[in-house]
Amino acid sequence: MTMKVIESVAGMMEFSRQLHLQHQRIGLVPTMGYLHEGHLSLIRLVREKSDRVVVSIFVNPSQFAPGEDFEKYPRDFERDQSLCRQEGVDCIFHPAAAEMYPSAHRTSVITDQLADKLCGLSRPTHFQGVTTIVAKLFNIIRPDIAVFGQKDAQQSLIIRRMVSDLNFPVQILVAPIVRETDGLALSSRNKYLSPAQRAAAPVLFQALQEAEHLLQSGETDSNKIRAAMMAKIQAVPEAGLDYLAIVDFQQLEPVQQIASGTLIAVAAYFGATRLIDNIIIA
Ligand code: PAJ
Repeated sequence: MTMKVIESVAGMMEFSRQLHLQHQRIGLVPTMGYLHEGHLSLIRLVREKSDRVVVSIFVNPSQFAPGEDFEKYPRDFERDQSLCRQEGVDCIFHPAAAEMYPSAHRTSVITDQLADKLCGLSRPTHFQGVTTIVAKLFNIIRPDIAVFGQKDAQQSLIIRRMVSDLNFPVQILVAPIVRETDGLALSSRNKYLSPAQRAAAPVLFQALQEAEHLLQSGETDSNKIRAAMMAKIQAVPEAGLDYLAIVDFQQLEPVQQIASGTLIAVAAYFGATRLIDNIIIA
C-alpha cells in the first residue's frame, strides 16, 4: 500500500471507515511534525501492534498561548513525509488549521486538577488545547491504539485520564524517552538552542540521574533529592529553572518519600527555549 496523505477531515473519516470495514486495526501516532527519532520510536512501537499506522502531523494552534512559539515552531513536511515512508506508515493526516478549527468552533475538552499543575503553571491553557485536539483526532481517525511519549509525562497522564473519563474506545501506550548520546531528551525545540545552550542542556538529565543515584544509595527523602538536583541545575548559568516536581504519577501531588510510581519532572529555560525531562521511579 502506498502511503496516503489526507488533508480533509471527511477524507480521513472515510479512510478510517474503510479500514474498519476490512477489520484492520488502526494505530495512531499524534505529532506536531518535524519528526525525530523519538517520534519514529513511537511509530515503530505502534507498527508492531496494529495493521495500519496513521501519523497525524498538525501544529495545533490551541495548545500554544499568545506569545509562545506557534509561528516559529519548526516545520518540514517534505522531510516528515519521507521519514514516514521509510518507516512504513500507511497514512499521514495533515489538516490545515481551518480544517480542524473552523471559525464556528466553540467546544473544548477540559481535564481539571491535572492540567493546572507542573507545566500547567507556566502554560495555563496548554493542556486544554492538547485534550481538545487529541479528542478530535480520536473521533476522526478512530484508532484502536494510540501511542504517546513519556517525554511529555503529564500529557500522557492527562490523555489516559480523558480516555478513561470520556470512554474513548482506544488503547493508550506510553513509550520511553529517546535521548541524544549525552542524555538530552530529543525534542523538536532543541533546534532553537544556541551552541552554548545545547552544551548546557544535558544538565536536566544529569540532575535526574543524580536523583537515581541517590535513590539507589537508599535516600528517599524528596527534599534532600530536590536539593541535590537544584544544586546541579543552578550551577549551570544557561539553565533557568521553571519547576522541579516530585509527585505521585496519578494525582501529580507532591510526595515526601519517593517510591515506586513517583514522577520526578523538571522544566527549565535555556534562553527563551523551555525544555522538559522526567523519570518515573520503577
Ligand atoms: P510532539 O511534541 O510532536 O510529540 C509527539 C509525540 O512524540 C508525543 O507523544 C511526545 O511525548 C513524543 N515524543 C517527543 N519527544 C520524544 C522523545 N524524545 N522520546 C519519546 N517520545 C517523544 O506532543 C505533541 O506533539 C502534541 O502535544 C500532540 C500530542 C501531538 C497534540 O497536539
